[in-house]
Amino acid sequence: MMNEKMLDAINEQIKWELYSSYLYLSMSAWYNSIGLRGFANWERIQAMEERDHALKFYDYVLSRGGIVELQVIDAPPSSWESPEKAFEFQYAHEQSVTAKINSLVEIAQEERDHATYNMLQWFVDEQVEEEDNAHAILEQLKAVSDETGKGLLFMIDKDLAARVYHPPVAPAE
Ligand code: FEO
Repeated sequence: MMNEKMLDAINEQIKWELYSSYLYLSMSAWYNSIGLRGFANWERIQAMEERDHALKFYDYVLSRGGIVELQVIDAPPSSWESPEKAFEFQYAHEQSVTAKINSLVEIAQEERDHATYNMLQWFVDEQVEEEDNAHAILEQLKAVSDETGKGLLFMIDKDLAARVYHPPVAPAE
């Protein structure tokens, strides 16, 4: 059983993961509306991965005998000035999620909750990847705005169209 402070913080994180899912689904819709189907595909899969992150916390709370308390999720923005601005937004958002995961780790340490501390290490590693992915695409988009414009943008779009969803592997019984 987790203590109340840890449980409240994880319930809050479930909200942030679901907000992330909502945000990337909104980005996906926006990319679709401007004809960038590859970007739309990439963000739709990102939205599914964020829902999986929320469920990972959700299942963890249940496994510790805690009560999941779902919270109100704010509406995300629905449009951006450009793909570059959208990825700046995404990169900043992922950095804020990293800060939230780090706070959870600190609470687990303070509360001497070793099981939660261990579970959180998956998210610590995942955030390195999440920030790196957003940053790498942002850097490509910056190059597009400096140099050859649309041709390169459509090349990136083609690349992002190739992303496929990998469902999380269920833990062995
Ligand atoms: Fe679940 Fe992108 O952080």
